[in-house]
Amino acid sequence: MAEIIDTRTEPDRAIERACAVLSEGEPVAIPTETVYGLAADASNPDSISRIYEMKGRPRFNPLICHISDMAMAEAHVTFDPISRRLAEAFWPGPLTLILPQRRESAVHALASAGLDTLGIRMPDGFSRQVIARFGRPLAAPSANTSGKISPTSAAHVQADLGSRLKLILDAGPAEIGLESTIIKVEDGALRLLRPGGLDAAEIEKLTGREVLRPESAGSTIEAPGMLASHYAPGAAVRLNAEDVRAGEALIRFGGRPLPGESGATIVLDLSPGGNLREAAANLFDYMKQADASGARTIAFGPVPEEGLGEAIIDRLQRAAAPRA
Ligand code: TXA
Ligand code: MG
Repeated sequence: MAEIIDTRTEPDRAIERACAVLSEGEPVAIPTETVYGLAADASNPDSISRIYEMKGRPRFNPLICHISDMAMAEAHVTFDPISRRLAEAFWPGPLTLILPQRRESAVHALASAGLDTLGIRMPDGFSRQVIARFGRPLAAPSANTSGKISPTSAAHVQADLGSRLKLILDAGPAEIGLESTIIKVEDGALRLLRPGGLDAAEIEKLTGREVLRPESAGSTIEAPGMLASHYAPGAAVRLNAEDVRAGEALIRFGGRPLPGESGATIVLDLSPGGNLREAAANLFDYMKQADASGARTIAFGPVPEEGLGEAIIDRLQRAAAPRA
């Protein structure tokens, strides 16, 4: 099992151990405000290979590079004016920008899967301090086996990757609970490559421009990692359930009971008060709990499509998609 250091009680030791392990070329699980990440030195091809191996991740799926400040970002990518405004408004935070990589950037091609762009983000919370001390970008996908649900706690990471990992930093439950929103600006158009923890409506409000959605989830070639079946629990998934069948687990929203739920293996409500932020923060943990209840199918009650509901529904549709 991996060593776990609590960043709330031992912040200095957490940073020192993390930097030491990263310098050895070993990945470290770090808390970000979205989900826990599996981080490695983005300039070291051996470390990046270790991430792909540990996750069982296809190598055509590029990793996001995490930076601690704008100076570090500028050393690796070039900003168009709109992307710069987004960075200034929403970093640190749950936004990833796809930007052209600079020739001088030391981020290895294995991290970008050979593309001439980098996915880059400044995370909020403890991981940012780790990056600042390490002094170089950290490539970090979510710290889960490829295709499985993303981790929102150190315990989730330990259960999935603990036997292969040396170190997990524990900062408590992830505040946002959904991966970052991914945006690519092209000829002044804002393209949404992945809905996530930053509501696209906030981006529209700031820029006064429409955020363009791909025609359907996973249809864009630009985000090669966005395979249709992703975020999959072990159980099958049934969406927009209006009732609950015997032996199903139920995850609902907004405190509205569904007929038949007394026969469910477990009943969880993402947010009894109907708050989408709270629902996002609970989503992955509840999927894991429902999975562990022994249900063959997880039924989801309807979730509203507005705001963070877009990202929540995106994850649910991927969880329900046919498995490879
Ligand atoms: O919130 C998050 O974004 C979390 C935390 C750890 O920061 N990370 C995360 O990473 O979700 P991951 O590897 O699960 O998802 C990264 C996605 C890839 O699937 C890929 O589609 C997209 O980012 N991506 C990365 N670099 C890209 C690039 N150069 N062009 C297009 N898409 C890219
Ligand atoms: Mg992931």
